[in-house]
Amino acid sequence: MAQNSSTRRSFLKASTLTASALALRGPGLLAQSAQADAQIEILPGEPIATISPEIYSHFIEHLGGVIYDGVWVGEKSRIPNVNGIRKAFIDTMRSIKAPVLRWPGGCFADSYDWRDGIGPRDKRPARTAFWNQQDSNEYGLHEFMRTCRAIGCKPYLAANLRTLPGRDFYQEIEYCNAPAGNVPSNSAAPGVPNALAAQRAANGDITPFNVDLWGVGNESWGCGGNMTPEEYAAEYRRFTAWTPSYSNEPLRFVAVGPNGDDVDWTTRLFKALHANPEQRHLWGLSIHYYTSGSPSQFAAGDALKFSNDEFYDLLTRASIMERVVNDHWKAVDNKPGNPQVKLVVDEWGAWYGKGTELAPQYNLSQQSTMRDALLTGITLDIFQRNSEKVAVANVAQSINCIHSLMLAQEEKFFVTPTYHVFKMYLPHSGAQAVRAEFTAPTITNPLAGAPIPVGGNSYIGSLDAVKALAGLSGSASIAENSNGKLLTLSVVNPHIDRSITTEVAVRGASISSAKGSVLASHDVHDHNDFAHPDAVKPTAATIGHPSGGRLLHTFPPASVTTLQITLA
Ligand code: AHR
Repeated sequence: MAQNSSTRRSFLKASTLTASALALRGPGLLAQSAQADAQIEILPGEPIATISPEIYSHFIEHLGGVIYDGVWVGEKSRIPNVNGIRKAFIDTMRSIKAPVLRWPGGCFADSYDWRDGIGPRDKRPARTAFWNQQDSNEYGLHEFMRTCRAIGCKPYLAANLRTLPGRDFYQEIEYCNAPAGNVPSNSAAPGVPNALAAQRAANGDITPFNVDLWGVGNESWGCGGNMTPEEYAAEYRRFTAWTPSYSNEPLRFVAVGPNGDDVDWTTRLFKALHANPEQRHLWGLSIHYYTSGSPSQFAAGDALKFSNDEFYDLLTRASIMERVVNDHWKAVDNKPGNPQVKLVVDEWGAWYGKGTELAPQYNLSQQSTMRDALLTGITLDIFQRNSEKVAVANVAQSINCIHSLMLAQEEKFFVTPTYHVFKMYLPHSGAQAVRAEFTAPTITNPLAGAPIPVGGNSYIGSLDAVKALAGLSGSASIAENSNGKLLTLSVVNPHIDRSITTEVAVRGASISSAKGSVLASHDVHDHNDFAHPDAVKPTAATIGHPSGGRLLHTFPPASVTTLQITLA
């Protein structure tokens, strides 16, 4: 790792200037500022937007050990369960107030027939499915909805656009959302019960599922059909031209967006979509951006064994999420008067090669270290800083997969460091994001010599190398509660062996106190496992008394911190 000297110099200059400015206001402040390596200034007067609670969302796919064993253990299992769903999965998702769960894929979705997963379990057909799996269809639509109900989250269904006709899409909506009893005919005929609602009731759920968030296909440039943007636009329009509606709220349809930073896909997609003046059926654009564990190959590198250089390189490449978000926000080109399309980053995370899977049948399962916790903090901060653009984001995937919060094998279960970051970031959910300026020494990415591999399961692309990693990054938000305004600041210090003493100030206000938690470990390779489920967990942050309305706080090496700041 090399400190970027010019940034360092300009930082020191900024720090000196601040120190002299502060000197005018009191000697205590000058003393504080002189000790600081970095500075964070929070600007409550510069609101960004409300942080959508749905950016902390989740994703489960019929893949390896995600559904079978991870989520679904069956009603007769000796593993504690609620109607067949692993209890530890439900409890963990509840503990982080998981807002939305995406299912059934991923690539699996585009060869899945939702009708195979309804009706008596012992009569459901077993099928050969994506990932070359045999699926018993034991876990289907009703089991998924019960999972969502048990968690208290909303369902997000990925519809099959590649191998089912548009009729199956709108009938899936009908099956999920048609009310029980007589449905008004909206014609001269009397209302009659809807046949699909009756079938749903016969299968155990009289009450409609009321699914409003629908992915129209998945990765249609790859496993979802190898389409061009123009071909996909035509399919998208056909699928969404008419769909049943039982509410005044329009359904939220999400179109397949780019792989990584493929702006060409998005630009052409919108051009093709807008070639027809009917635009009202598009709510969101899906984005998939994975960070490979290897600087030169997609879905490679080891989850547990990595050098310091690889650590910095991975976090630098993860930070590209901000560029991906901004590039696609521009490409969506929301014009006044046009429907405002939001970004839905429905797959993100660090994707490593084989080597740390729970067992061979747990395809794509991987271990997760402090490095992944830092990536999580960096990513959530990017979504929070861009809260006017990103409406939904789903980490891939919640359990037994790529960037998981939980790993489970039969009775054994533990949460990863990534889970702890999700929990620590809860105070930001639904709060007002405000701009915060970070001034800190940058880190030069030691491996920024070659284009960056990006991809998903079915497509590989590349991005220009990125040379610098922010030496301190984060975001700030303000929430109102019964005690007044609560300011939350989250901060990632990516330096492996350097703590960063930082002066935190709030423009136009004084800090009266702060509390918080910190996730840090002696070694960035540290992780939890079945034998050591609590090896990595957050602790209360040690926070000094603010002086002159400012706080001098030391962020430990390789840490994620959230501070809750009370203003005077
Ligand atoms: O999350 C694993 C896979 O990654 C998904 O099925 C697919 O959408 C992506 O390529």
